[in-house]
Amino acid sequence: MIYHAALRQMQTKLETLTEEFQLTHKYNPIEHVKARIKSPDSIVKKLRRHGYDGTLENMVKYCNDIAGIRIICDFTSDIYRIADMISNQSDIHVLAIKDYLAKPKPTGYMSYHMIVTIPVYLSDRVADTKVEIQIRTIAMDFWASLEHKIQYKFTGQIPERIEQELLECSKIAANLDDKMLYLNNEIQEINTESAADSEA
Ligand code: GTP
Ligand code: MG
Repeated sequence: MIYHAALRQMQTKLETLTEEFQLTHKYNPIEHVKARIKSPDSIVKKLRRHGYDGTLENMVKYCNDIAGIRIICDFTSDIYRIADMISNQSDIHVLAIKDYLAKPKPTGYMSYHMIVTIPVYLSDRVADTKVEIQIRTIAMDFWASLEHKIQYKFTGQIPERIEQELLECSKIAANLDDKMLYLNNEIQEINTESAADSEA
C-alpha cells in the first residue's frame, strides 16, 4: 500500500511537471510514463539471489525497485532535464544515480536510473519510501524491451552472435537519438529565427 502511494505521488509530480512545461515552453519532455509494483514472488527471488531471507525487513532495506517508474522521452536532452526536475524537488531525496547513458552497460543497455525516496504520510508516521526511476528515450526503450524478451527466451544465456547484434543495435539506436536531437535543435532554431523575423 505504501509503495502504491509512493508511485501515485511520483505520477502526480510528473503530471504537474508536464503540464507546467507544456504551458511555459509549449513542449512536452515526457512521451509517456509506466509504473509498476514488483510482485512478492520476484521480491523474494531477488532477495534470495542476493543472499537475504525473504523477510519484510529485508525487503524494505535491500530491495530498491519494489516501486518502479519508467519515464520515456523523445530526446536524450529530456532525460537530464527530467532528472534535474525530479532531484530539485525538496521532498524527494536522491539515494543513488546510475547513468547508463554516459556509460552504457556491456550489453548495450542505456538508461538513466535514480533511486529516490519520497515521503508517504500515514496516520501515525511518515514513511520515506524508495522508488526506482528509469528515464530513457523511445529508442532506448525499444532496445531494452526487445533485449529483455530475448533474455527471457534464452533464460539469460543469449547466444554470442545475438549478443553482438544487440550491441550493434544499441549503437544504432544511440546514433538515431543523436541525429534526432540534432534535427530537433535545428528545427527549433529555425522556429526562433522566423518568430524573431515576424516580430521585427
Ligand atoms: P537489479 O538488476 O534490479 O538487480 O539491480 P541492479 O543493482 O543491477 O541495478 P541496475 O540499475 O543495473 O538495473 C535495474 C533495472 O534496470 C533492471 O531491473 C532492469 O529493469 C533494467 N536493466 C538493467 N540492465 C539491463 C539490461 O541489460 N537489459 C534490460 N533490458 N534491462 C536492464
Ligand atoms: Mg541488474
